[in-house]
Amino acid sequence: MEDTTKLNTSKLGTKEYWDNFYSVEKQNFEENSEDTGECWFADSDAEEKMVEFLLDNLGEYKIQDNCSMIDLGTGNGHLLFSLLEEGFKGALLGVDYSEKSVEFATEILDNKYSESENVKFVAADIFSEQWTPGEFDVVLDKGTLDAIALSGITFQDNKTVVDVYPKVIEKILGQNGVLLITSCNFTEDELIKIIETDSLKKWKSINYPVFEFGGMKGATICSVAFVKTSTK
Ligand SMILES: C[S@@+](CC[C@H](N)C(=O)[O-])C[C@H]1O[C@@H](n2cnc3c(N)ncnc32)[C@H](O)[C@@H]1O
Repeated sequence: MEDTTKLNTSKLGTKEYWDNFYSVEKQNFEENSEDTGECWFADSDAEEKMVEFLLDNLGEYKIQDNCSMIDLGTGNGHLLFSLLEEGFKGALLGVDYSEKSVEFATEILDNKYSESENVKFVAADIFSEQWTPGEFDVVLDKGTLDAIALSGITFQDNKTVVDVYPKVIEKILGQNGVLLITSCNFTEDELIKIIETDSLKKWKSINYPVFEFGGMKGATICSVAFVKTSTK
């Protein structure tokens, strides 16, 4: 059977594409401070649903209003700003390999949330072995694994970025920490196949409206939460 977790490469998998993308968004923001950039999966209210999920599950595993969170491939940082507005007051770190993204998100932070000392943006490639940001209570990914999967990059032993992704999560997620990931390229079953390991287990998922076409049923995106259950 075809391995549907393997995607073709695309320009969305290149750093150059994202550098150009955030340069334009940054320029737009400088011209109009109301324009804080594109909110990925806004049609499906993904950001609202991810924030709501964390609010609904306060007290479960490591989810607290003061827990530490990292947003992988943070882009314009919108998800972290929403969490901030909803009262999450722990350390919120946005990481992105595009320096332009980090400059843009930091500019929004300085302009609109200058009192918020708990939010920070840093530039880093999450696959770099030198990248050691410590452990977090919650790891967030909105569309980043999707983009990463399109890069076609491979590592030692021909491992793809998708193969290595769970290792990155295991490295930065503390015991009983939660990964909440939203994807449009992978189904819930595919995400489980990619991410589950001895220590990372699927916990819950978010419901989205289901469409039906030609007798087939499906949702356009999915969000799945995984828990790190052991330190193995
Ligand atoms: C589809 S965008 C999603 C942006 C943001 N999460 C959102 O929801 O708006 C994917 C993001 O992942 C970032 N990215 C891709 N590969 C990365 C890597 N290896 N390390 C860090 N960031 C990466 C890109 O620069 C881009 O900002």
